[in-house]
Amino acid sequence: MIENIKQYISEAENYTSDKVDEIEEFRIKYMSKKGGIVTNLFKDFRNIPAEDKKEYGQILNQLKNAVENKVNVLKSALKTVDAGKKDLDLTLPGDSVNLGTRHPISIVRNEIIEIFNRLGFAIAEGPEIEDDWHNFSALNFPKEHPARDMQDTFFVETNPDILLRTHTSNGQVRVMENNDPPIRIIVPGRVFRNEAISARAHCIFHQIEGLYIDENVSFADLKQTLLYFAKEFFGEETKIRLRPSYFPFTEPSAEVDISCTLCGGKGCNVCKYTGWLEILGCGMVDPNVLESSNIDSEKYTGFAFGMGLERIAMLKFGIKDLRLFFENDVRFLSQIQ
Ligand code: DAH
Repeated sequence: MIENIKQYISEAENYTSDKVDEIEEFRIKYMSKKGGIVTNLFKDFRNIPAEDKKEYGQILNQLKNAVENKVNVLKSALKTVDAGKKDLDLTLPGDSVNLGTRHPISIVRNEIIEIFNRLGFAIAEGPEIEDDWHNFSALNFPKEHPARDMQDTFFVETNPDILLRTHTSNGQVRVMENNDPPIRIIVPGRVFRNEAISARAHCIFHQIEGLYIDENVSFADLKQTLLYFAKEFFGEETKIRLRPSYFPFTEPSAEVDISCTLCGGKGCNVCKYTGWLEILGCGMVDPNVLESSNIDSEKYTGFAFGMGLERIAMLKFGIKDLRLFFENDVRFLSQIQ
């Protein structure tokens, strides 16, 4: 008899379930007033010989406690799960996973690179810390030439021959020095000028330089290349116009405007009612520049161009303040994909 009860105790202690019905069944099996195991055993109590009553009673109470305890534990475990389920509203939107976005300048740079890649331009790079030769002299800036002042150069204090490049045109020189024509490259990169920071200027900004040198490269090639770029980048309906200009490293030189991306050329406050927006400088590579890099200017001609990425990104995305590109505020950055 005692052995039987011990068996029940261990059964009850090992019992488990997470279903209300099953736990209730378990309770009834042992505790039911009619025919429950524990109830019946208590009924048998009076038939137990007096000398065994004490031991029997103790062990029977143990069984009763074990069953009640088990039922309580399993029921309260159910309640916790239920409470958890009540808080779980499957109709709520999930936690959002914020994916980063590319910086607008990177978006514009990558798109420009892709367009020129399609025309066969390879990517080259030049150093940001440059010497006077590659940033100025080899590009036909004479010493003391006012154009050097125009560029508000940051010089290294201990060595005025070393400076932060003021344009990506240094990349042209470095490629020409080390390669024979045909050369067809673009040079994306950061440039530096000692300018007061405002909505339209910054001391650090980005440019892409282009250079094409071969036999018989003409101004018509330059114009067609830029027209292709403008249409690919700003849209098929885009027109360009070239205005005569001056750069020491190109002759003739021009500045290029595109028809206003906002009003299509009719005139609005973005294009200051001219219908045109300036996007880049360009020209035919000056023979002096070719000769400085040991390229035969009798045999080869070439064109070059340079554009500022911040300006182009401002036009493309309708951004009025260039400083936004440098503040890295995600509320701004995430709007541009
Ligand atoms: N380097 C010029 C600048 O920073 C831009 C430029 C103009 C580059 C004409 C060129 C060019 O290659 O041909 O303002």
